[in-house]
Amino acid sequence: KNQLRKEFELGKRVTRARAYVCGLGYSELRLNGRKVGRNVLDPAWTTYDKRALYVTYDATGYLQPGRNAVALMLGQGWFKDIALLVHLKIELEGGETFEVVSDASWKGQDGPIVMSSVYNGETYDARLETPGWDRPGYDDGRWVAAEVVAGPKGVLSAQMMPAIQVVDTIVPLKMTCPKPGVHVYDMGQNFSGWIQLRVRGQPGTAVKLRFAELIYDNGMINRENLRGARAEDVYILKGDGEEIWEPRFTYHGFRYVELSGYPGVPAVNAVKGRVVHTAVEPTGSFACSKPVLNSLQRIIIWGQKTNLHSIPTDCCQRDERMGWMGDAQGTAEEAIYNFDMSAFYANFLRDIRDVQDEKGTITDTVPHIWGSRPADPAWGTAYPLIAWYVYQYYGDRRVLEEHYDGVKKYVEFLRTRAENGLVKFSYYGDWVAVDRTPGDVVSSFYYYYDVKVLAEMAKVLGKEADAKIYGELAGAIKLAFHREYYDPKTRSYANGTQTANALPLFLDMVPEAERGGVWGSLFDNIVYKNNSHLTTGIIGTKYIMELLTNSGTSDLAYDIATQTTYPSWGYMIENGATTLWELWELREGPSMNSHNHPMFGSVGSWLYKALAGINLAAGSVGFEKIRIAPQMVRDLHHAAGSTRTVRGEVSSSWSRDGQSVNLDVIIPVGSEAEVIIPKFNLENIVITEGDQIAWDVRGYQAGMQGIQSVEKAPTGFLIKIGSGRHSFRLRGD
Ligand code: BGC
Repeated sequence: KNQLRKEFELGKRVTRARAYVCGLGYSELRLNGRKVGRNVLDPAWTTYDKRALYVTYDATGYLQPGRNAVALMLGQGWFKDIALLVHLKIELEGGETFEVVSDASWKGQDGPIVMSSVYNGETYDARLETPGWDRPGYDDGRWVAAEVVAGPKGVLSAQMMPAIQVVDTIVPLKMTCPKPGVHVYDMGQNFSGWIQLRVRGQPGTAVKLRFAELIYDNGMINRENLRGARAEDVYILKGDGEEIWEPRFTYHGFRYVELSGYPGVPAVNAVKGRVVHTAVEPTGSFACSKPVLNSLQRIIIWGQKTNLHSIPTDCCQRDERMGWMGDAQGTAEEAIYNFDMSAFYANFLRDIRDVQDEKGTITDTVPHIWGSRPADPAWGTAYPLIAWYVYQYYGDRRVLEEHYDGVKKYVEFLRTRAENGLVKFSYYGDWVAVDRTPGDVVSSFYYYYDVKVLAEMAKVLGKEADAKIYGELAGAIKLAFHREYYDPKTRSYANGTQTANALPLFLDMVPEAERGGVWGSLFDNIVYKNNSHLTTGIIGTKYIMELLTNSGTSDLAYDIATQTTYPSWGYMIENGATTLWELWELREGPSMNSHNHPMFGSVGSWLYKALAGINLAAGSVGFEKIRIAPQMVRDLHHAAGSTRTVRGEVSSSWSRDGQSVNLDVIIPVGSEAEVIIPKFNLENIVITEGDQIAWDVRGYQAGMQGIQSVEKAPTGFLIKIGSGRHSFRLRGD
């Protein structure tokens, strides 16, 4: 039964009430005829025989003295058998408390939701509505008694992260009629969610909504890439004036909606887009003087947020929407710059722990439905890396305490699979690359990375012995990696792809003497062989941009970022992408080519780090020490970024012309920063902060509030500052 109800009597006025609902299956809580709160698709998806989440709702304003009704609508969601635990805790005037708990005295019946499925959609027959069912005084004599079932094993845990909500409502860009009776709406944006429908007509009329990311030239929707997801909602009218409906227990990933069976000609406002995802708070912003990069930021944001559905999903349209860990780890830093991900990842790390077995293995997807156990090492690395990012960016040491043992167990598992010091098994490796890199190179790189991160975690937690053991192990892997993959003839690793050379360079695994050679090979490959384009898959792409910037070639990174020919982000944008694609290639046929796949959005953190210049200072966590080092390259003459950190807003905004550089920074209270301002070829430099001189021909002018020092650096000036707003201007001739 997909509707449940129970009535109860309250003797007094309610001062405070909480409702706790743990659903195995989606549920919508209603009190006295009203939906409680704004969440949808509650609760979060977990490995529920390990950890089932309960959601806490503030029910205070919904109850009254006298008779009350609690009612729920239920949907399958990601769960096998629907079951529910409801607990109302009510405080009454005078301090008395009252509790209502789900049991066999509750009644159930099947309501108007005839079918609901995450992938396939929802069918709602409004003729089956029973008005008043969720209010007191309804005659439920023909309803059946709820069946009491055993709960899942494992723990019951509070859902602590933001819930999924309808975060935004958008209106269609246009409506066309490619065939009689068939109307197609272009929402102008690929997103996750559903449509709110407005309709008037005869009872029993069935209006069908079908969803797609793509459209054919003839104006009909193209659903070839949805694979097994039916992505179809049906609303059957009750025939009672204007009817406004939206589904509850499904969601779609789409830009286009096809409406058929609609009585008469629908108006443009017959549909509205409801943007649905985990309501993480946006905390970042980035903009600059290069339009293609602003478009890139925009499609990253849309792709990222619409793939937060209590877990980080790979996509939101086809029959997948899985917590693929490779995608999750690749985009984590980008997500952290753009959104408050602290509670989201705290939950996801528990999700990962929940799939870990006694041997220490984890899985490609979390919760585990698709993919393998053990995970591809480039996917499994999500466990150590996301824990480490959360610690670095949010300064949350508890996350390390909570997951240290799990991460160690995972690393120890990898170690059992090592051959000659390297871990070689791999399924995906540098996934969806243009030039393929051998998977074992990628796996061995992550073996090194994981061990190194574990050693650092041990250091933070004061586990000296482990820090030493894993530090030494990391050293041995590094040597083994070089021995196995380095080819002195080609001055390259393995087959010399961009990824094969970028990975060891990124983690400083290349012996000093060989570094220049490998770097040269990488540079030649990008610039001469590929005309400043990437040929990397999701793994190489994650590290290469940052590597180029850290190696002093931000101009090349910028060339890559601003390309508009294949393969590049700009190519997606030029071809109409409103979210990132799964592939560098433009494909619109069947099978694997999602048009909303956030994984190539890892470049998002580079926009902040390199172009806005916002970085954690080396060795610092939680933005206690910040490094502001904007890369003012090529034709870029302005960039601005800000991100709200645990300490407050960090912001950097710069502009320049031939004679001067302006840089405004905000450093939160309790933090300090080093700021690098480039001087280009300018001479006779004067640096001012506000209206005071901080540097001129005499050198550093001490004594200014908030400025600790100004010194010359290789390409400009290094200024050390405390918290506050600083407005620098460097001038010269
Ligand atoms: C998913 C990817 C995932 C990959 C792993 C695909 O089906 O959509 O994003 O990482 O499989 O092979």
